[in-house]
Amino acid sequence: MGSFWICWCLAILINSSLGLSQNRHFYKWEVEYMYWSPDCVEGVVMAINGQFPGPTIRARAGDTLHIELTNKLHTEGVVIHWHGITQKGTPWADGTASISQCVINPGETFVYRFQVDRPGTYFYHGHYGMQRSAGLYGSLIVDVAKGEKEPFHYDGEFNLLLSDWWHSSVHEQGVGLYSKPFRWPGEPKSLLINGRGQYNCSLAAHYSTGSSTSQCKLTRAEQCAPQVLRVLPNKTYRIRVASATALSAFNLAIGNHKMVMVEADGNYVQPFAVDDMDIYSGESYSVLLTTNQAPSNNYWVSVSVRGREPRTPQGLAILNYLPTTASKLPESPPPVAPLWNNYTYSKLFTSKIVALMGSLPPPPTYYRRIVLLNTQNYINGFKKWAVNNISLLLPSTPYLGSIKYGLNGAFEQTSPPDDYPMDYDVMVQASNQNATYGSGVYMLKLNSTVDVILQNANALEKNMSEIHPWHLHGHDFWVLGYGEGKFTAKDDRSFNLKNPPLRNTAVIFPYGWTALRFVADNPGVWAFHCHIEPHLHMGMGAVFAEGVHLVGKIPSEALTCGLTAKMFLNNNNH
Ligand code: C2O
Ligand code: CU
Repeated sequence: MGSFWICWCLAILINSSLGLSQNRHFYKWEVEYMYWSPDCVEGVVMAINGQFPGPTIRARAGDTLHIELTNKLHTEGVVIHWHGITQKGTPWADGTASISQCVINPGETFVYRFQVDRPGTYFYHGHYGMQRSAGLYGSLIVDVAKGEKEPFHYDGEFNLLLSDWWHSSVHEQGVGLYSKPFRWPGEPKSLLINGRGQYNCSLAAHYSTGSSTSQCKLTRAEQCAPQVLRVLPNKTYRIRVASATALSAFNLAIGNHKMVMVEADGNYVQPFAVDDMDIYSGESYSVLLTTNQAPSNNYWVSVSVRGREPRTPQGLAILNYLPTTASKLPESPPPVAPLWNNYTYSKLFTSKIVALMGSLPPPPTYYRRIVLLNTQNYINGFKKWAVNNISLLLPSTPYLGSIKYGLNGAFEQTSPPDDYPMDYDVMVQASNQNATYGSGVYMLKLNSTVDVILQNANALEKNMSEIHPWHLHGHDFWVLGYGEGKFTAKDDRSFNLKNPPLRNTAVIFPYGWTALRFVADNPGVWAFHCHIEPHLHMGMGAVFAEGVHLVGKIPSEALTCGLTAKMFLNNNNH
């Protein structure tokens, strides 16, 4: 298929009482499968206009994006979610199947039209089935509004979109997850940086064997050769990093260089220097890098697996000091990552992230507190994930329309519980490992302050508790604190109410809890879920709704599927 894509990027001046110009950006996108070699092994990826990863969107805060998305997949629906964009006033453009809209059927087109209101490093990805794992993702960068400045200086910037890659199709993976006995897709075959990885090619072997030639034969090198970041000596670069991984948590490092953290999930943080940083699926960061090393050398940028026993080699990119040639391999091997299960190390890093001085502090008290116990369970012998013993099963009619129009039959009307049984022991296997399916919604009072305590627990297996990165749509939350074991009311005292970071994704560590606070000020229906793709697929999520009666006119294409469609037809027959 032709790979035309158009961005008129028309400088349409919307209005200017403040003297600010707000632009509209127009895109025409076609999603299709194509052959590609992300890690030098040919497979099938989901591409946008023939590109993998999808095109990078770049806009300024206040601009409006207008993306006409056509589904060219032939046999399945598609939607795209704009991760980190709050969709104020346009909840139907959030791009979540069964929550904000119907899937776009083969041959159909849906227009995503929304404002990007805050500067930052974001990305977009498929939000139907496991389409993110299939490669449907790309970067979305929002610059500060014209005339405004970032609170730090840099001479140039790079963008690294991280992901993990398998050689089996997501369809096969999905069948495995839904089978009895359960079949786990396993660890990724390769780690990708900007969609590029090298399967079974140990660039690192070059160092251990001392041989002067690399062990790699990069077939389709134009698709899978490591990304090269070309820099000049003695300059400062902003490196934007976002993780769209299906499964993996990463540690990122740049050989011989320190990084200064300045942004997390589109919010400024109090700068601090690190040698390496953790990044979980759904998170994004900006770090500043000063090119103060010997310019006659190149250096590795590496990502390594954390939190799961690694069975995948590091993902690599090259920091290339000009005028040194990019093909000169770095003198030192790629940075060695901290031990995968050194959680103390990860917690220490996480605790360093606080809001930039002068940021908006959280409300000092909450109106409602929801405690969500994260467990792995069985339902009729099928392996699932559940929160408060309910494994999320999405309805055929999107919540947004069914709540707005009162279609009570569309989903379970009883709300899921705000807590779990007091006597539940989070440190051991549950005595009853069974859960139930549910599609109920947490109805939040508009403009109220909500606390969510994410409580981790032992999974099905003995001595097993995993990291889960939880992501909230439509809002940022303050991360008030992390703790070990079971959260109790007295843990409130340890909360950071002074300068907690504002984010859209936060992890729970094994056997620990994480406390979040947000203001339910965005009329709509919003997904809140673990960003590990197979976990979400296995039910690890919840749905929040607030002020849906205030939501404006929902485009009909977002509504006409499932029960809503039947209602429309019935109404037309009378
Ligand atoms: Cu990036 Cu609902 O996810
Ligand atoms: Cu998870």
